[in-house]
Amino acid sequence: MLNTNISVRIYIPSLSFYVNIPIAQLHIMFSPKKIQVMDVLILLVLALTVALPSLTIVESRKVPVLDYFEYSAVSCRAYSASLIEFGGAGDGTTLNTIAFQTAIDHLSQYASSGGSQLYVPPGRWLTGSFNLTSHFTLFLHKDAVILASQDQNDWPVIDPLPSYGRGRDTQGGRFSSLIFGTNLTDVIITGDNGTIDGQGDLWWQKFRKGELSYTRPYLIEIMYSDGVQISNLTLVNSPSWNVHPVYSSNVVVQGITILAPVTSPNTDGINPDSCTNTRIEDCYIVSGDDCVAVKSGWDEYGITYGMPTKQLVIRRLTCISPFSAVIALGSEMSGGIQDVRAEDIVAINSESGVRIKTAVGRGGYVKDIFVRRMTMKTMKWAFWMTGNYGSHADDNYDPNALPVIQNINYRDMVAENVTMAARLEGISGDPFTGICISNVTIQLAKKAKKVPWTCTDVAGISSDVTPMPCDLLPDQGVEKIGKCTFPEDNLPIEDVKVQTCTFRRNL
Ligand SMILES: *[C@@H]1O[C@H](CO)[C@@H](O)[C@H](O)[C@H]1NC(C)=O
Ligand SMILES: *[C@@H]1O[C@H](CO)[C@@H](O)[C@H](O)[C@H]1NC(C)=O
Ligand SMILES: *[C@@H]1O[C@H](CO)[C@@H](O)[C@H](O)[C@H]1NC(C)=O
Ligand SMILES: *[C@@H]1O[C@H](CO)[C@@H](O)[C@H](O)[C@H]1NC(C)=O
Ligand SMILES: *[C@@H]1O[C@H](CO)[C@@H](O)[C@H](O)[C@H]1NC(C)=O
Ligand SMILES: *[C@@H]1O[C@H](CO)[C@@H](O)[C@H](O)[C@H]1NC(C)=O
Repeated sequence: MLNTNISVRIYIPSLSFYVNIPIAQLHIMFSPKKIQVMDVLILLVLALTVALPSLTIVESRKVPVLDYFEYSAVSCRAYSASLIEFGGAGDGTTLNTIAFQTAIDHLSQYASSGGSQLYVPPGRWLTGSFNLTSHFTLFLHKDAVILASQDQNDWPVIDPLPSYGRGRDTQGGRFSSLIFGTNLTDVIITGDNGTIDGQGDLWWQKFRKGELSYTRPYLIEIMYSDGVQISNLTLVNSPSWNVHPVYSSNVVVQGITILAPVTSPNTDGINPDSCTNTRIEDCYIVSGDDCVAVKSGWDEYGITYGMPTKQLVIRRLTCISPFSAVIALGSEMSGGIQDVRAEDIVAINSESGVRIKTAVGRGGYVKDIFVRRMTMKTMKWAFWMTGNYGSHADDNYDPNALPVIQNINYRDMVAENVTMAARLEGISGDPFTGICISNVTIQLAKKAKKVPWTCTDVAGISSDVTPMPCDLLPDQGVEKIGKCTFPEDNLPIEDVKVQTCTFRRNL
């Protein structure tokens, strides 16, 4: 990996070549006690080619060893460049939108010859929105911060999503996300835990005061794309949603830390939206809205567009979301949500664990949902289903478009300090069916509600659940059903492996 150890740069005249040697390495090389075979060989080669006296130490200061590092990614790239080569300045005040866009436009020429990677060095890189290209990797050094501009002129306005019919905040267009990609194949945003800072505070204030003409930007949005990896980054203070893959397939989101004030508006963590084959894993999210919100379009627009989110894996997620859900399904689910598998989730101080949000007029479906091994601490509701979420795109929704909610399976969970075990509210005349809850122990808080379960317009079964669920989920006994289903097969995205890639700067 990258190392910022002090190194000396040694010029070898006969080869017209510089070598960077970290001090630590020199120490080993020249320490008589520690000389190893390789070191002897290196010294011999150096001595023979250049003769030791002609070695000139031309530089000896703290320089990052940029020439080479390794990282893991689904695909590796043939061509490498640094943002500095395109006029970037990491001083926190120079605007780098043109540097980013010039670099990426230039690198797009390598798409069909092995792809390219752009390295963002240590520094604070102020920028407006920029667009990615195919067969491309954006890599952030651990001390690199991409800083979102707070000037609205740095954010192009783009069309609303067809499955939403309008922006989420306002009618009409929306500000392009900070890092945006559309119609791409094989695109990666990763780093050694580098940071993307949305500087959202100003946006939140304007949103609250109703001062925005367009919908707030997201930090990362990838649209109409196949083969997406977003990994090993820290995202802070997004103006709105953090990571939004939409109309895309084969998406891996891995090792992301997302931080935003718990009172910040709509700072959802990761929102897979009309996506097929998505894997979200090893993420830590503290935010002002749902940690993961699974979506697929809004009311009549989502129904017409008809693109579901399906084959989604969520695992090893830690979430703190005092006013929202750990995993939300909806509320925009009009294209359908199917085959979601979530496991090994830790929820702390959150409003609800898994929440289904829908309404009359949404249409669509939420079915074949499987959640297991969720640990919850300090929750308002462990489980929540809401059939009257409301929040319509406009008044033209079809009152006969009823959502289908069926085959929802929760098992192997422990929760403590919970105000109310569950609040399950289906739709009158359109019950939520096939609910199965097994092996779940919910320890209520001292100040818990008197009735731990409320259920209306739902149907299903339970087994080995404390406290005793409502009558609409009759207990089958431990022996009778034992456990609710969790699929045993792998989804295709689970077999996608990361490999070790190298970055080598072309000097
Ligand atoms: C992310 O970083 C961890 C170490 O912090 C490393 O093990 C893992 O391979 C990295 N993943 C990717 C996709 O780079
Ligand atoms: C990015 O692409 C979108 C859609 O093609 C376009 O509207 C926008 O202007 C582009 N942004 C930049 C910074 O070029
Ligand atoms: C991107 O893909 C969508 C869906 O396939 C298509 O409708 C749109 O025209 C494409 N846009 C561009 C710029 O190619
Ligand atoms: C990445 O950085 C964040 C913020 O500093 C930190 O909380 C997190 O633990 C780091 N992740 C890794 C894998 O180092
Ligand atoms: C239990 O939850 C309440 C909020 O409902 C919180 O104030 C309290 O600190 C929690 N107790 C523990 C032991 O976590
Ligand atoms: C019940 O769930 C717990 C985790 O909450 C798990 O450790 C245990 O093995 C499960 N019991 C059975 C019988 O599967």
